[in-house]
Amino acid sequence: MKLLHVVGARPNFPKLAPLSRQARAVGIDQIVVHTGQHYDDAMSASFFRDLGLRPPDINLDVGSATHAVQTARVMERFEPVLLQHRPDWTVVYGDVNSTLAATLVASKLGFRVAHVEAGVRSGDRSMPEEINRIVTDRLADLLLTPSRTADRTLRAEGEPDDEIMFVGNVMVDALLYAVQRARTIGFRSQLGLSTAPITVTLHRPSNVDSASRLGAIMSALRDVAAKRPVIFPAHPRTRAQLAAHQMDVGQVRLIDPVSYLEMVDLVEGSHAVITDSGGLQVESTALGVPCLTVRDTTEWPETIECGANRLVPDPADLVDAIASITRLDDAPRPEGWDGMAAVRAVDCLRTH
Ligand code: UD1
Repeated sequence: MKLLHVVGARPNFPKLAPLSRQARAVGIDQIVVHTGQHYDDAMSASFFRDLGLRPPDINLDVGSATHAVQTARVMERFEPVLLQHRPDWTVVYGDVNSTLAATLVASKLGFRVAHVEAGVRSGDRSMPEEINRIVTDRLADLLLTPSRTADRTLRAEGEPDDEIMFVGNVMVDALLYAVQRARTIGFRSQLGLSTAPITVTLHRPSNVDSASRLGAIMSALRDVAAKRPVIFPAHPRTRAQLAAHQMDVGQVRLIDPVSYLEMVDLVEGSHAVITDSGGLQVESTALGVPCLTVRDTTEWPETIECGANRLVPDPADLVDAIASITRLDDAPRPEGWDGMAAVRAVDCLRTH
């Protein structure tokens, strides 16, 4: 059996790692295609190193562009690669533009597609990721889901029962595998932190592309930072917007994007996380660190149901929300967030 994994952007890499490790353990041939959607060392290669992944076999080098151009470039460059390697499964991850592009190409050429993290929905079609998720799931032949909610969503959308396989959350596999190692790298000490900080990540276009919205968020973060250290590893998109509008960051410590292990160490030692990222909602929940999500929807309702995450659509509410946070006693564990999701996923790929 041969798997061809397609990844492109930062959130894909922790999902690939446990699957490729498990596939290797059971002797499956694999090829990793990186589309090049993300290309900076901090957004890409550092993740491969931290996650113990060997460098990708093929890089399509598509780089940054508008959604349409980026998707089209991946499609154009991926087609000959797929025709050359002819895998049993094309395995796609999550919801980025590369996921959608590879799925369109493989489906139209008649190659079977397995979607890892199928059935996840925010219900907000203004997010490019939501469109990517819906189309990918509609076309994929095997829908490997991270939650029972995702199973129900796919059934309600009319997907056949025999394509839907609950496997659990592969991001949690990667996290549980890395957490011991992350504790040894001393990232928090390097930052000179004496108190548990608030860790912030924001990169959604809906939060950072409008000056008034980003200004309101930064104003709230300045107030939060007056009481407790705030560490903000800024995505290049966010960094560019902050600079373009010469935003006052106050005592907020803006740092470059951090590697996977640095982020795990930082989050585990944080008082709370403020984010708009999907992955960080999952990771903070799995580490038992309270999360505030600066959005009006989430694709991870189980993080809210288990009491670890709360939506804070209005940034003006962040200061009060931080003040009312109570530390979680134990890391809440939704079903299938147990470190074994990739084992179940590879079993499905072998037997389906
Ligand atoms: C993409 C994903 C998003 C994911 C995020 C994680 C889509 C639709 N969005 O958004 O789901 O949460 O990645 O980071 O696929 N840039 C760099 N260096 C890089 C990569 C990007 O400087 O290595 C800058 C470029 O200016 C680029 C911008 O970041 O234009 C946005 O990158 P892009 O991949 O288009 O989208 P993200 O916002 O990163």
